[in-house]
Amino acid sequence: MATAKAHTNIALVKYWGKRDQDLILPHTDSLSLTLDEFYTTTTVEFDDQIDADAVSINGEPLSGKAYDKVAKFMDLVREMSGKTEFARVTSENYVPTAAGLASSASAFAALAGAASKAAGMELSRRDLSRLARRGSGSATRSIFGGLVEWQRGVDDATSFAEPIEEEVDFGIEMLAILVDTKEKKVSSRFGMQQSVETSPYYKLWPEIVADDMVAMKRAIEDRDVDAMGQIAESNALRMHALTLSAQPGFTYFDADTLAAMDEVKALRENGVSCYFTMDAGPNVKVIYDKKDRQVIYDALAQKFGADRIVVSKPGPGIEIWD
Ligand code: ADP
Ligand code: DP6
Repeated sequence: MATAKAHTNIALVKYWGKRDQDLILPHTDSLSLTLDEFYTTTTVEFDDQIDADAVSINGEPLSGKAYDKVAKFMDLVREMSGKTEFARVTSENYVPTAAGLASSASAFAALAGAASKAAGMELSRRDLSRLARRGSGSATRSIFGGLVEWQRGVDDATSFAEPIEEEVDFGIEMLAILVDTKEKKVSSRFGMQQSVETSPYYKLWPEIVADDMVAMKRAIEDRDVDAMGQIAESNALRMHALTLSAQPGFTYFDADTLAAMDEVKALRENGVSCYFTMDAGPNVKVIYDKKDRQVIYDALAQKFGADRIVVSKPGPGIEIWD
């Protein structure tokens, strides 16, 4: 039996598209910030008395596609470790599930950590990152804390994440505006595949990401939070243009997403440096330097309600214990 705790991460340069569905090999590199406020803890216990994996999230038994993803992942762990028993997987999400707040990132990072240790494997963090990748692409990065880069690699062995700065010693923070925490209708998995297969703009995406990766790393080196925000915002908008331009087109935005984007722009017009990013869901994340936290918090809390605003600092990497 083993337990792991992994934090979510939000991409500043997004992963949006796979070139290998089974191995989850992405078309591009990506870069993220791990958050301290949102995380998953998962316990895995192998049990020779059960004849299928038993999985629960927040006390509810898991079924359907979400269950199949976990069972497939456990098959991979059994194959790697030589273990034959099924397992009880008990998970708690301290993050809304499937609302564009990266529950699959913290979930599969925690599952990789707990399952590999419970199966008797002592994996390096690089190999844990590769294993987490097989559950969900964004989980590749949640093994590490702080600012993290996922190198797309050319095959299973070379596609893993590495920390850029695990201990972030400058002011970057991220605040989430929880406009809607219901489960989304279009999963990231399906949405990105639709974009790859049907958006005429997809062919531009790898080039955009390559440029944004270079610019983002330079901004990190310069401790330039304003530049980091600018690059992240434009990268996110271009990612979302791939959903709008798919066939049929779709969007993760709702009216409140647009209202939140407007509010961030209004703050900026008033001289406050802050930028937005959105993932596969309507919730908006705001990037800023901690010196501006109070003024940004006050404006957004007044508009959306304090109970909908969650301030996050850079978070730590995975922890695993018996
Ligand atoms: P999100 O925006 O939350 O990352 P995704 O569509 O990318 O949304 O992933 C959500 C999916 O991740 C869920 O439908 C489920 O399959 C999986 N998931 C979320 N939390 C857990 C968990 N704790 N354990 C196992 N799988 C999970
Ligand atoms: C918009 O990692 O959830 O959050 O690999 O199919 O499980 P799968 O997708 P997932 O997609 C994340 C997409 C994103 C951008 C990002 O996290 O880089």
